[in-house]
Amino acid sequence: MKICVIGTGYVGLTTGTVLSDLGHDVYCVDNDKTKIEKLNEGKVPIYEPGLSALIDRNKKRGRLHFLSDIHYGIKECPIIYITVGTPTNEDGSQNLTAINDVIDSIGQSIHSHKTIITKSTVIPGTNEWIHQTLMEKGIDSNMFDIVSNPEFLREGNALADMLNPDKIVVGVKRQKPIETIKKLYAKIHAPYIITSLTGAEMIKYASNAFLATKISFMNEMARICDAYDVEISHIASALGRDKRIGPYFLHAGLGYGGSCFPKDVRALEYAAKQKDIIPEIVMAVQNVNDSQINLYLEKLTNKLTNLNGKKISVWGLAFKPETDDTRESRSLLLIKKLLEKGAEIHAFDPIVQLSDPAITVYEDMYEAVKESDALIIATEWSQFKSVDWKKVKDFMKGNILVDGRNIIDRNHVAGYQFHYIGVAR
Ligand code: UDX
Repeated sequence: MKICVIGTGYVGLTTGTVLSDLGHDVYCVDNDKTKIEKLNEGKVPIYEPGLSALIDRNKKRGRLHFLSDIHYGIKECPIIYITVGTPTNEDGSQNLTAINDVIDSIGQSIHSHKTIITKSTVIPGTNEWIHQTLMEKGIDSNMFDIVSNPEFLREGNALADMLNPDKIVVGVKRQKPIETIKKLYAKIHAPYIITSLTGAEMIKYASNAFLATKISFMNEMARICDAYDVEISHIASALGRDKRIGPYFLHAGLGYGGSCFPKDVRALEYAAKQKDIIPEIVMAVQNVNDSQINLYLEKLTNKLTNLNGKKISVWGLAFKPETDDTRESRSLLLIKKLLEKGAEIHAFDPIVQLSDPAITVYEDMYEAVKESDALIIATEWSQFKSVDWKKVKDFMKGNILVDGRNIIDRNHVAGYQFHYIGVAR
């Protein structure tokens, strides 16, 4: 099938590349000409394991094209994916500028039937609005079908998540486009959830909000366990054995970050309040997440008394491992609070490059701890699980080790006279 993917961010690039690898002829379009030039030179703007190689392979096969002429893409392709960014404003309302521009372009270039598939995360009701807007532009509803087909891919695992999803959610206004979707994903084996346009949008928010709730629940449990001297990982493994709960997303620590959970939970709160519903759980999830960092800060401040002028090393800047994405990273938020208290920050991350004059970033994780008063583990990169702790202790001036991701064996580091700080460890 001939497919136009509009927007080459995480979702667009992954979706377009996987669809071309499945055999479709894909035109990835973006109004950022520089980005398109770079992609045509083989430079992929995001770090995602396996993506560059797959892009390369399908460009060579002549099945993956990058261009900035949106009208050409729309005219050429009967299938159009909307994968543009939908940032959320502070109040939770959604900035639909990019979507609006796409709808305008479709309105100007639609001369034959189009199946328009929204993969961007959009507030409930947006796809109905897209349908209405195209009608108001005078386009006959028989000339297009809108489909809401949210993605559930995780950064750092995006290709696998797209090729082996645990479900395919399809929101439609009529049955007709369902066959088209099934042809598109013919080589992907997963159960279909067929629902309304708004139903599919809501599934996306409910999924992310529920996963965020699991994390905030475990972080709240960690606070309670900390007060009772109970090991939180015991709670997690016991809960995880219960099939009704499941073992995933029970890992307590500094809280959730990234381009999805914080934004989507805020957006769901906003969507609920639009209907005069006070989403108490969703609000509590955010409150716990927003205050989790303070717990670690308090413990560090209690130990170091005054952070002013103290040299603090931070390992991990990305919001999670296997990505270079620092959006809403808990690590950066923690660093900001430490800087406000006058601390000096020396950081290391396996892949994140950061140019912030207030933060000294090192290529070598051991260099980053030289003469420091404390070391904080802020992102759960696997390389922080096999460390030469004698070398770290020798290099540091102090002996404080803050485990913000509960990945360090505290008994093992105790052998090196570290003062271990964790929550419920
Ligand atoms: C998430 C969803 O998982 C994905 O389905 C959706 O499509 C997009 O949003 P992603 O943002 O890539 O994916 O990150 P994820 O792996 O879900 O982690 C989110 C945050 O939660 C990270 O900051 C991670 O460190 C944190 N986390 C995750 C925990 O604190 N504890 C856990 O047990 C799991």
